[in-house]
Amino acid sequence: MKQWTQGWLSYSPKKDCGNNKFLKKISFQGFDKESVILQNAIKELEIGIAGMLSVKTEVTFEEQLETGIQIVKNNEIHSEGYNIEEKEGILTLQASDERGMLYGIYALLRQISMEKSLTDIKIAEQPGSPFRMYNHWDNMDGSIERGYSGKSFFFVKEEVVVNERTRDYCRLVASVGINAVVINNVNVVGPATYLITDRYLEKVKEMTDLFSGFGIKLFLSLNFAATIELGGPNSADPLDPEVIKWWEQKIGEVYAKIPNLGGFLVKADSEGRPGPFTYGRTQADGANMLADIIKPYGGIIIWRCFVYNCQQDWRDYKTDRARAAYDNFIKMDGDYHDNVILQIKNGPMDFQVREPISPLLGGLKKTNQMLEVQVAQEYTGHQIDVCYLIPMFKEILEFKTYCAKEHDTIADIISGRTLGNINTGFAAVINTGNDKNWTGNDLAGANFYGFGRLAYNMKLTAEEIAEEWIRQAFSNDTEVVEKVLKILMESRATYEKYTTPLGIGWMVTPHVHYGPSIDGYEYSRWGTYHRADHLGMGVDRSDKGTGYAQQYYEPNAAMYNSMETCPEELLLFFHHVPYTYTLKSGKTLIQHIYDTHFEGVEEVEAMMASWATLKGRVNEEIFTVVTERFNKQLANAKEWRDQVNTYFYRKSGIADEKERMIY
Ligand code: GCU
Repeated sequence: MKQWTQGWLSYSPKKDCGNNKFLKKISFQGFDKESVILQNAIKELEIGIAGMLSVKTEVTFEEQLETGIQIVKNNEIHSEGYNIEEKEGILTLQASDERGMLYGIYALLRQISMEKSLTDIKIAEQPGSPFRMYNHWDNMDGSIERGYSGKSFFFVKEEVVVNERTRDYCRLVASVGINAVVINNVNVVGPATYLITDRYLEKVKEMTDLFSGFGIKLFLSLNFAATIELGGPNSADPLDPEVIKWWEQKIGEVYAKIPNLGGFLVKADSEGRPGPFTYGRTQADGANMLADIIKPYGGIIIWRCFVYNCQQDWRDYKTDRARAAYDNFIKMDGDYHDNVILQIKNGPMDFQVREPISPLLGGLKKTNQMLEVQVAQEYTGHQIDVCYLIPMFKEILEFKTYCAKEHDTIADIISGRTLGNINTGFAAVINTGNDKNWTGNDLAGANFYGFGRLAYNMKLTAEEIAEEWIRQAFSNDTEVVEKVLKILMESRATYEKYTTPLGIGWMVTPHVHYGPSIDGYEYSRWGTYHRADHLGMGVDRSDKGTGYAQQYYEPNAAMYNSMETCPEELLLFFHHVPYTYTLKSGKTLIQHIYDTHFEGVEEVEAMMASWATLKGRVNEEIFTVVTERFNKQLANAKEWRDQVNTYFYRKSGIADEKERMIY
């Protein structure tokens, strides 16, 4: 027995739905028999079909079938995409490449797992974005930065681990269309700097090859000052010929061993990490130096834009962290070379439960862009509290930037439609660890699954994705599907209600980032303030304040600039608002804060009650783990409610109209 679960690939027995008849014989046509991806795809089909329908399949090559499944190479299909169609007893899966074929096979297995009939089926999918990527923040000592589900399964005691679990990880992520993975933390310190040396290259190669067999490119996070730390020149100046020579040799060595490595992810000049600024050089100088060297090997440099002043003085009202990514990167738009991709966090701050969309996305008009979101629940409940994030990611993708006459949404930008480029992507900081169920709270598995599905097919709705996941990972029982779907779909709004109001963010226990501490970041150096006084709260980011709203194109800039037109869920992000200000609901700001905090706790109670009715209908272990987490979530929600409400009551002196208990 494995020490870990199989998530949505558990392949437990399913109703036949008339599907058996297709599954006895499968013929591949036009694909290379020897290819590892093909071999892996066949294995997956065999175990999936045997597990779900107890059918033993016969696999043949280049045979024209009269009934069964034909998997055919067709160069007209979009790369990495697939078409599936059933006609008169023959089910045909077409793809132009092996990844598309693999994704098509997972799609077939998904249908069977969801107890959907394959008769008359017609599905066609193609990837929403060229790079669909998971970023692991795993450290070599086995700890995970912002990890809430155990330790790393990639690194144990400073060694790289490749085993059966690594293989199951590949199966899980490939099944939802992920094609790139960064295995180590963006903060590259200590032994992680040595991942590009002989100490680790052999093992990294083994992992890279395993990944390749599932169509996944392995990337490494890089220490920009590796020159210094690995005994090269005592500088990391990207224009210094000695430094360049050192990197040429280093990258040459790495690619000689691992020719199929995807490339590197770099966090430079950010939160204390080294970077080109130290040497008076630009971010483009740093990124291009590495990109030019890696280019002959087909490698990519992904350069993060999380660059801001983390030594701010809270007394300083002019400096605004929200402005930083745009201010630091917009000037060099067009200077980045073709194999550089700028990786931009979805919001201008840091993965809060509600933020506006980063104006750098689409602000850049001549530069490859990759959107970065966080599936790890750093600020959204640590995988204790349930928070299904796909609805938020959908909002981000659909945001209209007005960066072009057409194709101007975030989805357009990261698919390459806006600029006609191919080096674009969608990345998520992932929420996995070596916990038996991978994600701590089983319900967080919906985010692990959902990000991949969404990145592959941005047209899917958050409900569709959740339902797919529930059916495969939990059960096809209608009651389970309906109740869990409702819990997931409401969970982000609930979390938002009992935590920080109207887009202001933070108010969280410093460093840990779980539980309330209203002033925890108020007098800190991190640029994260709510500016509450006895009259009101919020940060003035209009043209009379920090001017952040002006970083957007019109009409967004004007919309955010005025208190009247600013979307209310972001009101306190953009404006300093009196507690007595009347919202569209007719409530004052202070009453809104009180009400939402009471509602948030009530909603958690309702979710718990709904979950409790599923005892005996979902796997016992899952039931117990989720129940324990809900108990903790309720305690957390109450703590948030009472601290936030009491804090603002004390600041404002305005009582709750409904005279509820405020301390
Ligand atoms: C957040 C997070 C850090 C992380 C950083 C990043 O600030 O708290 O742990 O290193 O983001 O994205 O680089």
